[in-house]
Amino acid sequence: MTFKDLAKPWVAGLGVYEPGRPIEEVARELGFKDAEAIIKLASNENALGPSPKAVLAMKKAARQMHLYPDGGAFYLVQALAKRLRVSQDQIIVGCGSNELLEFIGHVFLQKGTSIVMADRAFVVYKLIAAMFQAETIAVPMIDYRHDLNAMLKAIRPDTRAVFVANPNNPTGTMVAGAEIDAFMRRVPDHVVVVFDEAYVELLPVDRQPDVLRYVREGRKVVVMRTFSKTYGLAGLRIGYGVAPAECIQLMHRIRQPFNTTAMGQVAAVAALDDDVHVERTRAMMRDGLAFLQDAFASLGLSYVPSSANFVLVQVGQGRRVFEALQREGVIVRPMDPYGMPAHIRITVGTKAENRRCLAALKKVLGRTKAGG
Ligand SMILES: Cc1ncc(COP(=O)(O)O)c(C=O)c1O
Repeated sequence: MTFKDLAKPWVAGLGVYEPGRPIEEVARELGFKDAEAIIKLASNENALGPSPKAVLAMKKAARQMHLYPDGGAFYLVQALAKRLRVSQDQIIVGCGSNELLEFIGHVFLQKGTSIVMADRAFVVYKLIAAMFQAETIAVPMIDYRHDLNAMLKAIRPDTRAVFVANPNNPTGTMVAGAEIDAFMRRVPDHVVVVFDEAYVELLPVDRQPDVLRYVREGRKVVVMRTFSKTYGLAGLRIGYGVAPAECIQLMHRIRQPFNTTAMGQVAAVAALDDDVHVERTRAMMRDGLAFLQDAFASLGLSYVPSSANFVLVQVGQGRRVFEALQREGVIVRPMDPYGMPAHIRITVGTKAENRRCLAALKKVLGRTKAGG
């Protein structure tokens, strides 16, 4: 008997998520003596680093790390409830929003159920569905955007969740408030609509669709957000979900008692209050995105105009360009796992990182035309 013989039969066939490669791993593999010579623009992290307020709070909290965290994350939930104008029983905190996606699986998915998602939306949705033996109905995007009408039509009686990543990773595209409204008016009552807003705080407030109001109205909606992107805390693994209290209670039943760390909670509370860092991050993203997109245009590379801190650009043989860039000390993300082998996805970095990435890209593509 092998472990595989003992395992649940579908586990060995599950897809594996290919994350952005860590700097140290690439340095080891390619023989870079100095890991600092490498830049990572592969996981949509915040190039400005963590919120300074969060760093200060973590330093203070370090001496208390012998104690277990508050599993309910009281102070973080309290701060979020106040900021988002929802009640505390409408919030749950998770080990990144990835864990919250898994909670959806634990609570709603099993064999004989299905999920609806866009075919080029965040790949974790279908990995989670497979983990719980649910079927994935992947609906083609139009111009790299969610086609909410087609997604509505794709909903079946066995569908339990519809995922809308807004802005979406890896396309960087958004659906607007009016489109969401029309979708929400028609969506049947037997599905949970998951709005994954991992990047939403990067946008000016007037460009953020108000989906939290569906939670306040008691609709079957879960809104997911994270401290990994705008707040620069990806290493701490902390995110949250907002949903009607009945849904949150079900999620609490399947969550581990200490699913988030004390350090993560303390840092998140401080980061939430760090408006200066959020503004600086938004400005960096706006300027960096304009720089990269202008450069791609002048190089004649087609790209998808982005509303997030990354951009999808067509480079020919994506994986080969990714590998060649890596040898230049620039880590980006190949897009073949998303069915886009001609594309790579580049995270917006600091000014210096963006320039370095562009120079490397030009070199790799063997082009000399100016691009900024
Ligand atoms: C659309 C989307 N959702 C969720 C996540 C997960 O983020 P985290 O688990 O770090 O909160 C990501 C991360 O890249 C993402 O792009």
